[in-house]
Amino acid sequence: MSSTLFNLQLDHIAHLQRAYAPMLSEHGFDSLAIYSGHASVHFADDHTPPFQTYGHFMHWVGLADVQHSWLIIQPEKRPQLYLYAPADFWHLPTHLPEEPWVAAFDVHFCSDKITPPLIGNAAIIGDTDQLAASHQQTMQAERQPEQLVNSLNELRLFKTPYEIACIREANRLAIAGHQAAQAAFIGASGELDIQLAYLGASRQRESNVPYQNIIGLNQHAGVLHYQHYDLNAPKRRYSLLVDAGRRFRGYCADITRAYAGPDAPVAFGELVTAMHDLKDELVKGVAPGVSFIALHEQMHQQLAEILVAHGLFKGTADQAVAEGVTRLFCPHGLGHSLGLQVHDVAGLRHSDGTPAPAPEQHPALRLTRTLRPGMVVTIEPGLYFIAMLLDPLRNTSLPVNWRLVDQLSSCGGIRIEDNVAVTESGFDNLTP
Ligand code: GLY
Ligand code: MN
Ligand code: MN
Repeated sequence: MSSTLFNLQLDHIAHLQRAYAPMLSEHGFDSLAIYSGHASVHFADDHTPPFQTYGHFMHWVGLADVQHSWLIIQPEKRPQLYLYAPADFWHLPTHLPEEPWVAAFDVHFCSDKITPPLIGNAAIIGDTDQLAASHQQTMQAERQPEQLVNSLNELRLFKTPYEIACIREANRLAIAGHQAAQAAFIGASGELDIQLAYLGASRQRESNVPYQNIIGLNQHAGVLHYQHYDLNAPKRRYSLLVDAGRRFRGYCADITRAYAGPDAPVAFGELVTAMHDLKDELVKGVAPGVSFIALHEQMHQQLAEILVAHGLFKGTADQAVAEGVTRLFCPHGLGHSLGLQVHDVAGLRHSDGTPAPAPEQHPALRLTRTLRPGMVVTIEPGLYFIAMLLDPLRNTSLPVNWRLVDQLSSCGGIRIEDNVAVTESGFDNLTP
């Protein structure tokens, strides 16, 4: 590990210890037990779906695959990690990474699934509903105290320099995958082979991705969370959209790129360029004190200008926004908080924990906060040709250029997504 990352991680752990102590006392607790969670087997089977450690557990240990384990936090005391490590010849035994947090904790290797010792007035967080009833009954503690969880979520909204370094590294690894995906597309690969190229170049197996990679060719690029990989390449190649990430020490990258293929109308390639420019403009708008809702609205205004400039809308940009046309071309939010979870916590609450819901007109927006230094957000403007959304407009007098929409519909859509840290003076784009 580089000495920088080593020291940054030590600072990160010290930061958590400093932050947790007053939080626990403010909410009246002497200690906190955090459960890692565990994978549940498929019904009537012995196989499990991919698992991800509970975010507040990962905040300390940075491991995305710890199961059946507990972390006990007590002010002024070393964190106690009860790590499930059974004597099991079916699996490779649990082992800890060579990272400085290990020396800062007392680590107890547990051969059984234990109930941890609780200290004083304790709180428990994590998915404890999954625990056996016998374990649940022995634990006298308040479960999921909402105010405390809100405070811990708020803490996670603001990343330490260590966390930002991890997200930057996750981005570096993910971009290698994106470059391989683009090369596979140029080489006429189908969706599955583009996915395999991505996984190989970003050095990860599919069960470790932070979210299911979206690899959509042609019309599939317009399916926002497209969830399949066609085995065969299509005959004609209009477009590719790749929304794919990587974890590093638990922290996520969430990057999207879109490409025009050899069979795309010229107008589509021009729109891809315009959407890159729009993403760059919006990234430049990231700064402390900026309302993310206002930045989202700026995306709609500038998207409207693109619709007009490229002949998709024959009215004015103001009309396209006012009539809700841009919301049908881009039905998702500008972005979200990013961290240990791809859609990270606390985006829809005020700093005191009270709800800060998405505006009625923009229900899919996942971040309504004013930007502050330490936040990491995605900036991901999109432009799609989704028949289910656009078709109802055909019965109106709105001046949409349906001939051009129909020409572009085989291209599906475009999304360009970068990961951006808010700094004291502006922004730091973590996506190379
Ligand atoms: N990859 C999911 C998203 O961009 O939010
Ligand atoms: Mn994404
Ligand atoms: Mn995203």
